Amino acid sequence: RYNLEISPKGNLSWEGIDLLDLIEVYGTPLYVMNETMIRENINRFKSSLQKYFGENGLIIYASKAFCTKAMCRIAKEEGIGLDVVSGGELYTALSVNFEPNKIFFHGNNKTYDELEMAVDKGVKIVLDNFDELDMLSLICKTKNKKADVLIRIKPGIEAHTHEFIRTGQIDSKFGVALENGEAFSMVQKVLQKEELNLVGLHCHIGSQIFETAPFKLAARVMLEFMLKLKNELGCEIEILDLGGGFGIKYTAHDEPPRIEKFIEAIAEEVEEFCSLRGLKKPFIVLEPGRSIVGEAGITLYTIGSIKEIPKVRNYASVDGGMTDNPRYALYQARYDAYVVENPLGERTKVYTIAGRCCESGDILIKDIKLPELKTGQHLAILATGAYNYSMSSNYNRFPRPAVVLLKNGQAKVIVKRETYEDLVRNDVEI
Ligand code: LLP
Repeated sequence: RYNLEISPKGNLSWEGIDLLDLIEVYGTPLYVMNETMIRENINRFKSSLQKYFGENGLIIYASKAFCTKAMCRIAKEEGIGLDVVSGGELYTALSVNFEPNKIFFHGNNKTYDELEMAVDKGVKIVLDNFDELDMLSLICKTKNKKADVLIRIKPGIEAHTHEFIRTGQIDSKFGVALENGEAFSMVQKVLQKEELNLVGLHCHIGSQIFETAPFKLAARVMLEFMLKLKNELGCEIEILDLGGGFGIKYTAHDEPPRIEKFIEAIAEEVEEFCSLRGLKKPFIVLEPGRSIVGEAGITLYTIGSIKEIPKVRNYASVDGGMTDNPRYALYQARYDAYVVENPLGERTKVYTIAGRCCESGDILIKDIKLPELKTGQHLAILATGAYNYSMSSNYNRFPRPAVVLLKNGQAKVIVKRETYEDLVRNDVEI
């Protein structure tokens, strides 16, 4: 799975690199990203979208999943766009000269400074609410500039893994609702503003979704709204951005549809609706994050203390934890792992893999069957490429691990390991 291999020495290896050799050079905990897989994932999205929409579509990588200069550079080289949600993500993108017109700026509470930066650079802004609309309009007028905007709609569909519900979704902090006319009046208001150029509509229905049906439903709801705008306001909207959320495989239990299946389903719906209802096919934007980087990352740890509590639990603690991967603590997320020195060993014993933070909830994997573990061995936790580094923290003042990028047997550091000096850099002594 995930293109993992066994090295000539019998250790776990990736992209032709023995992971024990990698650990010797870079230490642990260590985030490892696989550039070949990242580019392959991007290209699967690109070619699949191209198949159905030709030049009339764009993949924009949701950088919140993993945002570094190197990742923005890869997205840029692949010719895709970028979804950013903060001045920090925008700054990172601009620092590698990312084309501003391919950057979409999201967020439910962008600041004045962030919007100013976005207008100055000419990035597309996904408007979330009326206050933001007013603020943006003021900024544009002050600067005598125009901004391209999309409007974030609450489509009334919420999807998580296998379940999705179609109810009112007014109770969300993101976007404007369809059912109470809020979205409609926002469109009207934007159309009245000369300094704002309404280029599209956006929605996002959830994350780690395993079904194609909610995407079809979301597309239909959005297209209905576009038709309404055309009929009632004579306004033809160019871009339909359907967000991200395509599920990935974390453990053997997960069976997400292939990327191509998601896009095929969306394309079918768009095709059918537009031809039957006489709407011009919009330019389709998709915003995958997890499905581009999730399976393309692993985290390497050193196993420290092992505590076997008879009839209760076997704890194996590693040298990282919720500071580098808070997803079990936050969502009870599940992961699979291998022992680097013994990848094919028979899995005979159940362990709970704990971190080293002062917190009982600091767990990485609860109840995983592994070969008998020994202190000093190394553990590779799989599919940690999304929302791990990007959600990491310095709790307990643990320095963040380094990130290395693998490609064709070569490893490159793309984020340096933090030092104790880094931790106190902004502290001011009294
Ligand atoms: N577009 C928008 C507007 C989003 O809010 C998100 C994710 C995405 C795209 C990308 O979704 P993806 O393709 O990565 O599922 N921290 C959570 C995930 C939060 C996702 C938030 N929004 C986790 O670790 O599972």
